Amino acid sequence: MDHFAYRDGVMHAEDVALPAIAEAVGTPVYVYSTATFRRHAQVFRDALKGAGRVHLAYAIKANPNVAVLRVLADEGYGADVVSAGEMQRALAAGIPASDIVFSGVGKTRRELAQALDAGIGQFNLELEEEGEVLAALAHARGERAPAVLRVNPDVDAGTHAKISTGRKENKFGVAIDQAVAMFDRLSQHDGLDLRGVAIHIGSQLADLAPLEAAYARIGELVAELRAAGHTISRVDLGGGLGVPYKPDDVLPSPADYGAMVARATADWDVELMFEPGRVIAGNAGVLLTEVIWVKPGVLNPYVIVDAAMNDLARVAMYDAYHDFVAVEPSGERMTANIAGPVCETGDTFAMGRDIDAVKSGDLGIFRTAGAYGATMASTYNSRALVPEVLVDGDRFAVVADRIHPETILAAERVPEWLKR
Ligand code: LLP
Repeated sequence: MDHFAYRDGVMHAEDVALPAIAEAVGTPVYVYSTATFRRHAQVFRDALKGAGRVHLAYAIKANPNVAVLRVLADEGYGADVVSAGEMQRALAAGIPASDIVFSGVGKTRRELAQALDAGIGQFNLELEEEGEVLAALAHARGERAPAVLRVNPDVDAGTHAKISTGRKENKFGVAIDQAVAMFDRLSQHDGLDLRGVAIHIGSQLADLAPLEAAYARIGELVAELRAAGHTISRVDLGGGLGVPYKPDDVLPSPADYGAMVARATADWDVELMFEPGRVIAGNAGVLLTEVIWVKPGVLNPYVIVDAAMNDLARVAMYDAYHDFVAVEPSGERMTANIAGPVCETGDTFAMGRDIDAVKSGDLGIFRTAGAYGATMASTYNSRALVPEVLVDGDRFAVVADRIHPETILAAERVPEWLKR
């Protein structure tokens, strides 16, 4: 459930009519709903009530806006970060370092050192050498770095290939059949406090069965590790729960997921860590856009909007579906293609879709754009970097400015030898 709804025929975010935001900030612009973030955070937490000791680390990559992080920090969420930049954001939002998990297959030595300096709560190791380097860095500081070993369970999550992470050919984690031997070796290091294991098999998962299969493998691994004499106090179950993008999509609910987790982990006796991203942020944001032209096409008209693939990359990258509705629907329908101004055919949001009839100057929204939206934006075609607005009840604030092309141009230099 989200807080984007029509009132008197006008789409609102909570109590704010979207035309007011378009008027004040211009388009395209991402609009987020605080109440939706809070609700999703609470629903996910409640869903895991039956799963024992739980630590929730919001996967910042889904939506790293510092105001959004502040809301989630208020809701008691820690953070899952994958770069020093994300770590800085989490800290800036007031998330305690001890509640931060540092994931990622390519943490640099510098980032490992920065994270040790910050005192972050858990390193998710992706390879043995990373564990050795981290151990040496921590030992040199007279510390023990808290860590878990990410394993690759070789499970097909049944999602888009580009966001599938748990098959053995993927770059993530260590092969599950090598995990015990690696754990034995890494746990010898004084600089490491190796507490358990982690997995994350993919994103936008529409079926719980692959997750349950992966968790079963992790359960066996925990038993093997304990039999080998290791103390296992934590298991990080990652993120990945999908969200509905189409009006008639039916996905497992957080409650279904929580019940599965409780069942799969009943006898583990560990603290469970979760790294939800999309399920918290996805339906908490929309991309508000204005129709520039309705261009006649051979089969269907092209609705050319002022948002493009540089603002919302998911359609071009993953053939994703984002629902499009008019902000003030007339009741008429049309079959149309929806595309942005960028000069490539990939900049097409929909082909032959039945949508609200729109004309030049009308506003529309792409729904479910709160996760992996603004954060994946670029300035391709020398377009501005898209701004972000956070709504809370009847008030709203710009929480990320539009970065204009002239600002980006000002950061570029013509070297001496090319100057005239
Ligand atoms: N933990 C780890 C280690 C991850 O790699 C990810 C996502 C998450 C947690 C959060 O997963 P979520 O709960 O959001 O599914 N840009 C793509 C999604 C990439 C996901 C990458 N990893 C998209 O727009 O669909």
